[in-house]
Amino acid sequence: MYRYTLGSALLFVLLSSSAWPQKETLDAEGHPWWKHAVFYEIYPRSFADSNNDGIGDLPGINSKLDYLHWLGADAIWIAPMFPSPQVDWGYDVSDFYNVNPDYGTLKDMDELLAQGKKKDIRVLLDFVMTYTSDQNKWFQEAKSSKTNPKRDWFIWHDGKGAGQPPNNWTSNFGGSAWKYSPETSQWYYHYFYPPQPNLNWRNPEVEKNMFDVTRWWYKRGVAGFRLDAVDVMYVDSQLKDNPVVGIEKNAFGDPVENEINDKNQPELHGVLQRLRKVADEYNAVLIGETWTSDIDQLKAYYGAHNDEVNMPMNFMFANVNKLSPPDFRKQIQWVEGSGGWPVYVLSNHDIRRVYDRYGDGQHNDQIAKLMASLYLTLRGTAVMYYGEEIGMENNDPKRPEDVKDSMGKAGWPTQKGRDGERTPMQWTAGTNAGFSSVTPWLPVDERYKTYNVESEKKDPNSILNYYQRLLSLRHTNPALLDGNYTALNESDPNVLSYSRSYKGKSILVVLNMSGAAQKVSLNLAESGVFSKKAKTLLSSFAAPDQVDTSVISLEPFGAWVGETE
Ligand code: NOJ
Ligand code: CA
Repeated sequence: MYRYTLGSALLFVLLSSSAWPQKETLDAEGHPWWKHAVFYEIYPRSFADSNNDGIGDLPGINSKLDYLHWLGADAIWIAPMFPSPQVDWGYDVSDFYNVNPDYGTLKDMDELLAQGKKKDIRVLLDFVMTYTSDQNKWFQEAKSSKTNPKRDWFIWHDGKGAGQPPNNWTSNFGGSAWKYSPETSQWYYHYFYPPQPNLNWRNPEVEKNMFDVTRWWYKRGVAGFRLDAVDVMYVDSQLKDNPVVGIEKNAFGDPVENEINDKNQPELHGVLQRLRKVADEYNAVLIGETWTSDIDQLKAYYGAHNDEVNMPMNFMFANVNKLSPPDFRKQIQWVEGSGGWPVYVLSNHDIRRVYDRYGDGQHNDQIAKLMASLYLTLRGTAVMYYGEEIGMENNDPKRPEDVKDSMGKAGWPTQKGRDGERTPMQWTAGTNAGFSSVTPWLPVDERYKTYNVESEKKDPNSILNYYQRLLSLRHTNPALLDGNYTALNESDPNVLSYSRSYKGKSILVVLNMSGAAQKVSLNLAESGVFSKKAKTLLSSFAAPDQVDTSVISLEPFGAWVGETE
């Protein structure tokens, strides 16, 4: 079944042999591929180093596709791999149409796309659409004179007075969000680092040129984009000051502002709708870096007619920073009721790793399996972060001189930055965890001798093998793919339970979020299930094959997944 009629763009795609997408096949429920896919985020600098210069690269990623396929990843999202001065480790793009030489060449990218196609792993890139690097030729032109044709591609204004920026907006990385440009005696706006000037999306030329960037990559074969920092794409057209809240300062020593004028401006939804139309022509998928503070904001990103971001990541779920069944229940219920397809994520290159965020220092391996069992059995799409499947933990810098992330440099010691969650992937127990034969750009976590792919593959009880079994179950069980979600035992403060039912079959998921053993009697009538017998499909502890659902015994932090009989 084709989702679209044969418009000219699709015809082009079908005729050109190397380009994706292929035909879209929908499942019995009308779901496109990405609704059942497991996405896996790769931080390219830290995944695998093919030429031993201490920096991960595209051929390195390519060499690990078989591993990813074995694990059960269907798509990878590669954090920015474009040419960049690396002020913000790739999120400062100097050329949207190329590959950073640190990571390889366009040919390497084509090879990765071709191998991905063969091995059933789609490749998504990061679309850094809100700003460029100050080294980007667009900005270089824009800053040269007030009359340059590209001037209005960025946001410029006179200062309020000598040495004073146009308004009080602060940068997310500290200090004023405006930088003085002596060439023209005006200030330009940057929500993030000064070398990341924001694009002016009110200018239709910007929209046209940026949309063309996506078309160019779609034609090369990328299956979609993760959209970076969409909430700060637009600012108030009058550049009104933000209200300052209280007298406290933030980690950078700046006043705390209520960001009503530099965030979440209504115009951004129009752009997302138009960008989606382009993506749809290529059968591509858009994942949103959509930070939201309530469910209505998240709903808005799906679009009133599900016509904006296919997969707005739900960071409110990841923000539940404790093992709290009531808090997770509330979050799941919210997104279940949103009308959009849920997208779950627990960590990424900006969020501390799951292993130590939820770990209690004693049962971390159990807790890692517990958290995997939660977000990989819910109805929706999951986005994993590399290394989570082997229990990698944050390896934060110990000394200010070691910090690589400018956020950590500016905020030390209150804000140590994000290096800790970006350290090299641990492949073996050998030198530098098998990532590289030379010292890597960030230090390998010292626990790598135990926590690495090669060793964990051999241990049936490892976190890695647990992930692999869980992902395999998720890919093959119709109730996990398409079943509805029903919360069970909703007043239990320690154990989070739910069912996923599809065509008379029910999967039961029972997760002990406490450090004490628990006995649970599932109240199944609520979900229309009458059998009391269940078969164990997966558990993080030694559970019997057959279980009576009126007395399920769980070890501390134990996870159990079963099927009713
Ligand atoms: C969002 C990216 O995820 C983050 O790593 C980056 O620092 C900011 N955008 C600013 O570029
Ligand atoms: Ca390399």
